[in-house]
Amino acid sequence: MRETDVERIEISLLLEGIRRRWGYDFTHYSHTSLKRRLARAREEAGLERFTELLDRLMHDHRAFDSFLKHMSITVTEMFRDPLFYQAVRKQVIPALKTYPYVKIWHAGCATGEEVYSMAILLQEENFLDRARFYATDFNKHSLDVAEKGI
Ligand SMILES: C[S@@+](CC[C@H](N)C(=O)[O-])C[C@H]1O[C@@H](n2cnc3c(N)ncnc32)[C@H](O)[C@@H]1O
Repeated sequence: MRETDVERIEISLLLEGIRRRWGYDFTHYSHTSLKRRLARAREEAGLERFTELLDRLMHDHRAFDSFLKHMSITVTEMFRDPLFYQAVRKQVIPALKTYPYVKIWHAGCATGEEVYSMAILLQEENFLDRARFYATDFNKHSLDVAEKGI
């Protein structure tokens, strides 16, 4: 068996271990970026193999917290993808307005810019008071920043 195949098995064991031990599921991340991030986490921990990283993450809560930071890419900005917001304004909001009340969930909200952008858009469309926002992220530091609303 080639070394790359062995590594593939190790990564899948690592992801399965994390999922069962901590409840975070990274199995649907794109393989290339996942591998890059895992390799960075392994190197920073001073380990040679992903199975060693698995062992560490199984038993060390603090190691897992710092591992999560490697998995969290927090790039964001206000109205980050203008075409998306244009489409929401033109195509989605007219449909939402047929409901008395809507709930909007921003999964992976980072520091909140996406949520605040959406709130501004809904305000401009006179729809904000009929909406409730939920914003979640596994990066606690980002959530703290988001909550401040600066
Ligand atoms: C690149 S940022 C995008 C932020 C925002 N959605 C935007 O588009 O501007 C991705 C965010 O998703 C979060 N994230 C990634 N995977 C996640 C998961 N499985 N559960 C919760 N948050 C996750 C990361 O911590 C990060 O803050």
